[in-house]
Amino acid sequence: MSLLSSVAVSAGYGDLVAIDNITIDVEENSLLGVIGPNGAGKSTFLRALTGVVPLRGGQVLWQGTDIGHLPADARARKGISMVQEGRRLFPSLTVRDNLELGGFHASRQERAERMTEVVDLFPALGGIMDRSASVLSGGEQQMVALGRALMARPQCLLVDEPSLGLAPLIVDEIYEALPTLIERGMSVVLVEQEVDRVLEVADSLVVLHEGRIVYLGDGSEFRENPDSLAAVYLGHALDEGAA
Ligand SMILES: Nc1ncnc2c1ncn2[C@@H]1O[C@H](COP(=O)(O)OP(=O)(O)OP(=O)(O)O)[C@@H](O)[C@H]1O
Ligand SMILES: [Mg+2]
Repeated sequence: MSLLSSVAVSAGYGDLVAIDNITIDVEENSLLGVIGPNGAGKSTFLRALTGVVPLRGGQVLWQGTDIGHLPADARARKGISMVQEGRRLFPSLTVRDNLELGGFHASRQERAERMTEVVDLFPALGGIMDRSASVLSGGEQQMVALGRALMARPQCLLVDEPSLGLAPLIVDEIYEALPTLIERGMSVVLVEQEVDRVLEVADSLVVLHEGRIVYLGDGSEFRENPDSLAAVYLGHALDEGAA
C-alpha cells in the first residue's frame, strides 16, 4: 500500500480547473518529483494533498484511508507537512522560534531532539538561532522553512520549489539533505522547475501540463534523452516528442 495517493483528484479556483484527474502514488521511503511549466498546477496539487484547497473531485488516500474531506490541520497531524512556495516564515521571530513553532504539538524534550536533528541536517542554522528571520538570506530562509516543517516530524514532506531564487551552492546544500530524509524513513514530494536537480534525486517523476499528467514514470527516459523532456513540457506525449 502506498503512503499517500491521489485518486482522480481535481481542484481549482472559481471557474478555473487548475488540476484535473490526477492519480499518483507516493511510496514509503521514496521521493516523487513533480515538474512542469509555470501554471501547470504543481502548487495546486500539493495544496489539494494537504487540504489547503478543497477537492472538487477524487480522493486523497493516506495509508489507504480517504482523508480528502479532512481539514489541513487534521491531515498535518497524520504526518503530512508542507513547505510552501516562498517559505513564509514569521519575520519578527527568531530562527529558533520559527523552528519551535513547527513542533508545537510535541513535548519540550521531543522538540529539543528534533531541533538537534534539524541542525545536523543544516549545520548553517546552528550559528543563527537567535537571529531574526527578517534578516536571513534566501538560502537560510529556505533551510528554516524546511526545518520548521521537519519539526513536526512528518512521514511525508511536501516541498514547493525549494531552489527558487537561490544560488547553485545553496541549492546543493538543500538537495544534499533530501537523501538523509529518505534514510530517516520519510517520503518526499518535491515540486521543482529545475528539472536536472529533480532527476538526480527522484525515484519517480510526474510531469504536469495545464493541470493534467503528461508523464508518470521513473524519469529514466529523460536522463537518457533530455530533449524528450522539452516535448513533454509542451504537452506532447513522449512518443510524439521523440519523433
Ligand atoms: N489562489 C489562486 N486563485 C486563482 N487562481 C489561482 C490561484 N493559485 C493558482 N491559480 C491558477 O491556477 C493554475 C495553476 O497554478 P499553480 O500555482 O498550481 O501552478 P504551478 O505549476 O505551481 O506554477 P508555478 O511554477 O508558476 O509555481 C494557474 O492558472 C494559476 O493562475
Ligand atoms: Mg507553484
